[in-house]
Amino acid sequence: MKISAFHFTSFIAVLAVVSSPAYAYDPDPLQDFCVAVNDSKAAVFVNGKICRDPKTVTSDDFFICGFNKPGNTSNPFGSRVTHAFVDDLPGLNTLGISMVRIDIEPNGVNPAHEHPRASEILVVLEGTLYVGFITTNPPNPNDKNKLFAKILHPGDVFVFPKGLIHFQYNIGKTSAVAIASLNSQNPGIMTLSKAVFGSEPPVRPDVLTKSFQVDEEVVEDLQSLPWMGNN
Ligand SMILES: *[C@@H]1O[C@H](CO)[C@@H](O)[C@H](O)[C@H]1NC(C)=O
Ligand SMILES: *[C@@H]1O[C@H](CO)[C@@H](O)[C@H](O)[C@H]1NC(C)=O
Repeated sequence: MKISAFHFTSFIAVLAVVSSPAYAYDPDPLQDFCVAVNDSKAAVFVNGKICRDPKTVTSDDFFICGFNKPGNTSNPFGSRVTHAFVDDLPGLNTLGISMVRIDIEPNGVNPAHEHPRASEILVVLEGTLYVGFITTNPPNPNDKNKLFAKILHPGDVFVFPKGLIHFQYNIGKTSAVAIASLNSQNPGIMTLSKAVFGSEPPVRPDVLTKSFQVDEEVVEDLQSLPWMGNN
């Protein structure tokens, strides 16, 4: 049988759709740029932000400063994430990238968290970080989730795959600084402790008691803490 070019193309298209992974990535731009409008009352909700009239766009829409300045780490975690996401840098809209600066004081932690919409690649500029991520549940319920961890020094690069729980801990005697890039304009940050124990309204304690297999007092103690983010 002769396969026409049209049929072959359709076949490839169907194959591409069928085999595309469940995770979606930020969409590709369809124009040079689509600088986000900064209008909290925008009446139209789109996946991303509405483009501003390109005639009103200036260089400053693609610019942010201050990434040379240490973030304020006076919080219980001893760390601060300074972000350049689309809400901070409107020129990122539709580009599928963003950046953070991470400051961590000695014994401070960027606590276990995950980014639902982005992988992250991190370079250490100063200090010594113990970093790691944990895989999703293996198929066999008796098998353990695997930790991939490493001690990083200045110049070392580590990658955290999309959606996986990860952390950075300063095991050195001096402040640590890292810069990381993420492949989403709006990666999302879900800090596990804050989300699980500090939600509003709170999760029913019996749900957490059963989930974490601990006494109710432990859950009540954790839920009574003033959970705050570091970003
Ligand atoms: C850092 O944050 C703490 C707690 O929010 C605040 O009291 C302090 O003034 C901040 N320091 C600077 C230099 O902004
Ligand atoms: C967006 O507008 C708000 C309120 O007018 C302002 O505080 C904020 O800095 C603006 N964000 C950007 C990225 O320009």
